[in-house]
Amino acid sequence: MPNKNNTESYRVIQITDPHLFADESMTLVGMNCEEGLQDVIELVKEHEESVDCVLCTGDIAQDASQEAYNRFAQHINKLNAPQLWIPGNHDIIASMQKALSNKKEALEKTLKLGNWGIIMLNSCVEGHIYGQLSEQELDFLKSELDGMHAEDRHIVIAVHHNPVPVNAEWLQNHSLQNTQDFFEIIDAYKNIKAVVFGHIHQDFKTSRKKVLMLGSPSTSIQFHPENDYFSLDKENPGYRWLSLHANGTVGTGVRRVVGKKYKLDLSSSEY
Ligand SMILES: [Fe+2]
Ligand SMILES: [Fe+2]
Repeated sequence: MPNKNNTESYRVIQITDPHLFADESMTLVGMNCEEGLQDVIELVKEHEESVDCVLCTGDIAQDASQEAYNRFAQHINKLNAPQLWIPGNHDIIASMQKALSNKKEALEKTLKLGNWGIIMLNSCVEGHIYGQLSEQELDFLKSELDGMHAEDRHIVIAVHHNPVPVNAEWLQNHSLQNTQDFFEIIDAYKNIKAVVFGHIHQDFKTSRKKVLMLGSPSTSIQFHPENDYFSLDKENPGYRWLSLHANGTVGTGVRRVVGKKYKLDLSSSEY
């Protein structure tokens, strides 16, 4: 794993919610998700000098097909960087794992980068859109936090479902449900710097008890950030970047595809 000196920072890229289909020509509410992902991968290659880790935060396949996972792996491999995958509510974990049979390290749940540690959590509940962290996942989180705290690491946690409310009210029923359990654990550690999540298909940034809470645009369709009911946003696909500095500070931002208009059925009331 990359190990830099104390003055350097680590560049982490979040790619989320591609919602791919077995058939590349299929569309989701009018948008070709394959095209969105391809464009975002090109955008990363164009703008990121070197990438230390790619966080793939779920909803990889819209139809849970093996072909979609296999092609996602091919797209992400183009970034030539360590990658970590977690599932979203649309995913089938066995198919996801199968696509990574030659790259099992992408299924690891932790990664250490210099004096930083990244923890990946599975928040999926089979058959449901909302998220929940199981007892087992909460125990895993606590034990990793203990270990990383003892090693004096700064920490980033990644999870598919949003643990904090966003402004779009309709997403609330679909968010992480047992947030109290989650926050009870993380509030006991002072070295957690950011929690990053997918699922909300929009740029989102707030801070809770000095911990950054970060959502990212998806590489496919964007949800309108304010409406109380499902509605699409005209914003283009994109990704989130994080710079993890040795002194424990985090730089972050989102970058979207520019100069292109995607086909999208803005009148859709569901997806
Ligand atoms: Fe999604
Ligand atoms: Fe999701």
